[in-house]
Amino acid sequence: MKRMQLSASILSADLGNINAVISDMEKAGLDMLHFDVMDGHFVPNITFGMPVLKAIHARTNLFLDVHLMISDPLKYVEQFVQIGANLVTFHLESESNPEQTIASIHRAGAKAGIVLKPSTSWKMVIPYLDQVEVVLLMTVEPGFGGQSFLWDMVQKVESLHTYIQSHGLSCQIEVDGGINDETLSHVLRAGAEILVMGSFLFRQPDLSASVKTIRKKAEILLFE
Ligand code: DX5
Ligand code: ZN
Repeated sequence: MKRMQLSASILSADLGNINAVISDMEKAGLDMLHFDVMDGHFVPNITFGMPVLKAIHARTNLFLDVHLMISDPLKYVEQFVQIGANLVTFHLESESNPEQTIASIHRAGAKAGIVLKPSTSWKMVIPYLDQVEVVLLMTVEPGFGGQSFLWDMVQKVESLHTYIQSHGLSCQIEVDGGINDETLSHVLRAGAEILVMGSFLFRQPDLSASVKTIRKKAEILLFE
């Protein structure tokens, strides 16, 4: 049976209190810390970058899932791995050569993933499926936390999952944007394994309790 992995997006966390956020995440048993890098160019928003990731890496052993929403990711992926990224995902819509970018991430020692915006067909990723560990399907328009889930994306997850299964490939599907206790069951059933959660998780009064509830829900669902 597949296991759901939860990657918490700190974009919606209390960033002024990052030590407490990290220790709450560790206690809650989250699988990954999702780190959204935005450059104000590839997407209209600017978030945080290398010095912040470096500081987080120095404080935790949590698996660092770095989502690059930047132009020319090839230029930066090696550095992100050197400062602690365990998985680096970059957008197929960026101008970098996908093969070279994947190779650079692997050479530096991390897992590599390709991200698709909602409007990009899942078929565009087919040529790279045997090279990446993860395909991240955006379930909102990249740029901001707290947006509503795009329901059309459930079918996209399912189509990609069917393709991966029928071709004996092993890459995992990650979904990002608008994942909450309602949408989660739909993406899990469709074949997603890594679920990014931002605003939903960090507005819960008790992170550990809600992670427990989510896992229970997923277990029941994946057993059905
Ligand atoms: C959006 C980011 C997401 C975001 C998810 O561009 O890539 O990771 O933080 O946040 P929620 O879960 O609030 O949609
Ligand atoms: Zn993200």
